[in-house]
Amino acid sequence: MEKEKVIVLDFGGQYNQLVARRVRECNVYCEIYSYRTDIEKIKAMNPKGIILTGGPNSCYEPGAPTYTKELFELGVPVLGLCYGAQLMMHVLGGRVEKAPVREYGKTEVMVDTTSPLFGNVSATTICWMSHFDYISKIAPGFSIVGHTADCPVAVAENREKNLYAIQFHPEVLHTQEGTKMLYNFVRGVCGCAGTWKMDSFVENSIKAIREKVGKGKVLCALSGGVDSSVAAVMLSKAIGDQLTCVFVDHGLLRKDEGDEVEEIFGPKGQYELNFIRVNAQERFYSKLAGVEEPEKKRKIIGEEFIRVFEEEAKKIGAVDFLVQGTIYPDVVESGVGGESVVIKSHHNVGGLPDCVDFKEIIEPLRDLFKDEVRKAGLEMGIPEKLVFRQPFPGPGLGVRIVGEVTEDKVRIVQDADAIYREEIAKAGLDRTIGQYFAALTNMRSVGVMGDERTYDYAVALRAVNTIDFMTAEAAEIPFEVLQTVMSRIINEVRGVNRVFYDLTSKPPGTIELE
Ligand code: XMP
Repeated sequence: MEKEKVIVLDFGGQYNQLVARRVRECNVYCEIYSYRTDIEKIKAMNPKGIILTGGPNSCYEPGAPTYTKELFELGVPVLGLCYGAQLMMHVLGGRVEKAPVREYGKTEVMVDTTSPLFGNVSATTICWMSHFDYISKIAPGFSIVGHTADCPVAVAENREKNLYAIQFHPEVLHTQEGTKMLYNFVRGVCGCAGTWKMDSFVENSIKAIREKVGKGKVLCALSGGVDSSVAAVMLSKAIGDQLTCVFVDHGLLRKDEGDEVEEIFGPKGQYELNFIRVNAQERFYSKLAGVEEPEKKRKIIGEEFIRVFEEEAKKIGAVDFLVQGTIYPDVVESGVGGESVVIKSHHNVGGLPDCVDFKEIIEPLRDLFKDEVRKAGLEMGIPEKLVFRQPFPGPGLGVRIVGEVTEDKVRIVQDADAIYREEIAKAGLDRTIGQYFAALTNMRSVGVMGDERTYDYAVALRAVNTIDFMTAEAAEIPFEVLQTVMSRIINEVRGVNRVFYDLTSKPPGTIELE
């Protein structure tokens, strides 16, 4: 049976991946292609629908991204969004001009609910607008089925030919009924049955990886974090023992984390893969001895990581491919858009490794958002404990110990953090707080325990709520939970006599202490 596919043609807008994501949420398979993709290639893919994305250009300017008129004559439903809508009108004989009023933000749109796009949508609905240009005249054969106070053509349709143009962005959540509109397009207008699920993504990726890798050798830097773990398992399912995973234990992991990663991925684990654990603790501690400056610490840890990884790669010999667990937000952060040609993202493992001799990078998760990566992980049977793991910085506890890192300080912060995490989970807060951990301040102070004077360290507890990790606010943790954590840490962790709760927002603070 031929797979149902919707194609998203990328005109350089910011929300293109979101469009694809919303289509996937309608259980329809979706691929993104550049607007430069040849029409013959598109025909050969036999899509059930085509969506043209937004973009930063003005379609009437010379050299602006465009597409041949033939696209609209294939008999395949086409939905244009923002720039895509304007382009559709422009190419088919309508007119697009600079708008007298720029619309930006949440806007009330009045829609014709008899349009196939607006089944189950309210007649007046809030949408996200972001445009300088506007459609001043619709193309022949079209009618207007949506407008705002400032925009006479917010939506136009040629129902007979299944062509739809939407000026706003149904793919962003600010468009309150946007997902319904996209659902109406892909499931209604395009007639997709909606049989695609995350397991199909996993299955397709595995097939594609097999084809790409052939008999080649693949190396994966496994950190034990969600992304690299999901990528590693996918690769392992695809190519078995052609894959080698290198896990560098830098001695700055959370308590027992090294063993947990080994338990899952090592020889006794459920996956058949070549797993190399490098216990490099001593090496890292000795490089970090006496170093207090945060950036210097980060650099040392990053560089040493690469050196260890490189040494292992050399032992394995010529490696054809390197796997990275890059996910879509990483791609955005690195400023690498879909329209960019050379993609070499060294984001995930702290700048891996120009020095290792491999031919190509495989990034099987680069189109997914974090929650989709988690879904893929669950589909492949990765334990929940790992799938729902919190973000953990590459330099690990190195940036959660203020000042010099020593083995003893690592022990303190590991033990305190384990207690904190245990109590947060017991209180049922572990899936509600964005990120939480214990850190070690470099402060020592006087206390009394039993009849003895103590002069010990202060632990800082951090817990933040955040959506994008760019801004964050301290989470409200019930006082009795904090008290339990405090009392357990002071009783159970040698070398600590004081516990602080860090109330700082980001900005002005950062989430990690260094
Ligand atoms: P900050 O401290 O910058 O942290 O507010 C924001 C988020 O990023 C994580 N973080 C890192 N992740 N390598 C990483 O992979 C790093 O060097 C790094 N530094 C911070 C941090 O845990 C938080 O989630």
